[in-house]
Amino acid sequence: MTGRRDRAGKSENTYHDLAGVYDAVYAWKNYAREARRVRAIVRRFGPPGAHRVLDVACGTGHHLEHLARWFDVVGLDSSGPMLRVARKRVPRVRFVEARMETFRLSERFDAIICLFSSIGYVRSRGSLERTLANFARHLRPGGVVLVEPWIRPSEFLTGSTHLGTYGTPQFPIVRMHLSERRGGRSIMEMHYLVGTKGGVRHWVERHDMGLFARNVYRVAFVKAGLRFIALPGPGFTGTRGLYLGVMPRAERARRGARGIRARSRSRGPRP
Ligand SMILES: C[S@@+](CC[C@H](N)C(=O)[O-])C[C@H]1O[C@@H](n2cnc3c(N)ncnc32)[C@H](O)[C@@H]1O
Repeated sequence: MTGRRDRAGKSENTYHDLAGVYDAVYAWKNYAREARRVRAIVRRFGPPGAHRVLDVACGTGHHLEHLARWFDVVGLDSSGPMLRVARKRVPRVRFVEARMETFRLSERFDAIICLFSSIGYVRSRGSLERTLANFARHLRPGGVVLVEPWIRPSEFLTGSTHLGTYGTPQFPIVRMHLSERRGGRSIMEMHYLVGTKGGVRHWVERHDMGLFARNVYRVAFVKAGLRFIALPGPGFTGTRGLYLGVMPRAERARRGARGIRARSRSRGPRP
């Protein structure tokens, strides 16, 4: 994916220019600790012997770097530049460039994770429901979906400017954005200034994300055939929490058997 720009330095593709500085901006995140919690959740709620994990919107592959020590993992993301960083970080891991709403893989997983609020990029309620149904389609019986949601509508503050500085004195990064709300979406136009030896680069990325209440997530999980659990505690980022969907083992097996019976009836008697 190439990032086309207008004359004001606006990048049409979020996570295009950001890929080069993402790890420096989020250096404060403790991916090792989060990965250990993911492992504990998959072991506790997933099927016995769970070992296949799909990280949807895996970004630069930080969680996968740790999860690959315990599971057989695959990473999926819609951004080519983010995946290029991920492939360098964990060359042994397989990555797929695709959108979470529409990806189709021929394999099934014991756990599908979608962390750091990436789910918000699906934007609308209908799209959230289609995305959860797509996750459920890729689960094995008894499998789990772990989602770190985006901020709740009641907690998203607008009208204030946010400023952050990152990087090092040799590689300084400044990010500033104003939060706006349009309908049920949060819009953040993020201005980046990055100091390099060749000069100061400036670009703007527009992050447009759906603001969904807990009940909207719950309905999407349930419609996808998953038992919804809001895990206790604050989760990984602020008070966003963690949502878990569990595919009932028996139900899934019954549905699978019904599907097989229906298919063999429609084929007629075997010779
Ligand atoms: C906040 S980053 C999270 C990355 C990683 N999970 C982490 O914890 O660092 C959001 C990621 O979502 C990806 N993304 C955005 N929209 C997507 C979509 N529709 N399908 C798949 N990935 C998407 C972006 O490319 C980006 O890598």
